[in-house]
Amino acid sequence: MKDKEIIFITSNEDKVKEVKEILQGFRVVSKSFPFIEIQGRSFEDVVFHKLSQVIELYEENIIVVEDSGIVIDTFSRSYEFPGIYSKPFLNALNLEGILDIMKNKTNRDARMVCCVGVFNRLSLEIKLFRGEVRGVISDKIKGSRGFGYDPIFIPRGYDVTFGEDPKIKSILSHRKLAFEKVKDYLLSL
Ligand code: IMP
Repeated sequence: MKDKEIIFITSNEDKVKEVKEILQGFRVVSKSFPFIEIQGRSFEDVVFHKLSQVIELYEENIIVVEDSGIVIDTFSRSYEFPGIYSKPFLNALNLEGILDIMKNKTNRDARMVCCVGVFNRLSLEIKLFRGEVRGVISDKIKGSRGFGYDPIFIPRGYDVTFGEDPKIKSILSHRKLAFEKVKDYLLSL
């Protein structure tokens, strides 16, 4: 890829910071857009729908959107939950409320998911990339770094939350895994 510029459309500055760190060597320009989010089931549904709202609006060759969140096994039945509803779930309950409804749950397994959609205007291709990191929901809110669910998510093999140790998050996060795949794709162009 000669022109190493991508446009990342999101209103979340924390995500922009993380993606710029992962895609070092690329010029990541971010733009905010008031996405309408569908009442779908999967991260892929939402990402596809987000892309469809912006590919005609911007003229850059590489347009990137993402949708991410947490999947809590004990709440997931026919589809990943809260999954694409991670934002309203957190807004409604707050971290304290989520820990409260999980108080008696023995299965605290969870995973963070990041799904990225890339539109390549030159080939007219859409590529989707998913990154996941497994872990558990902590029993207390720990750490004030990061954002969203970071203070209650302990990645597998560690005993601190993403909110306590952003370095650990930067090495093994769902976003890191998904955007490393994006990087490989862009470098293959
Ligand atoms: P959205 O993809 O911006 O709609 O985010 C969905 C929800 O998941 C929001 O509540 C975010 O705060 C949360 N979320 C997304 N990515 C992360 C992350 O890397 N860590 C913690 N929470 C996240």
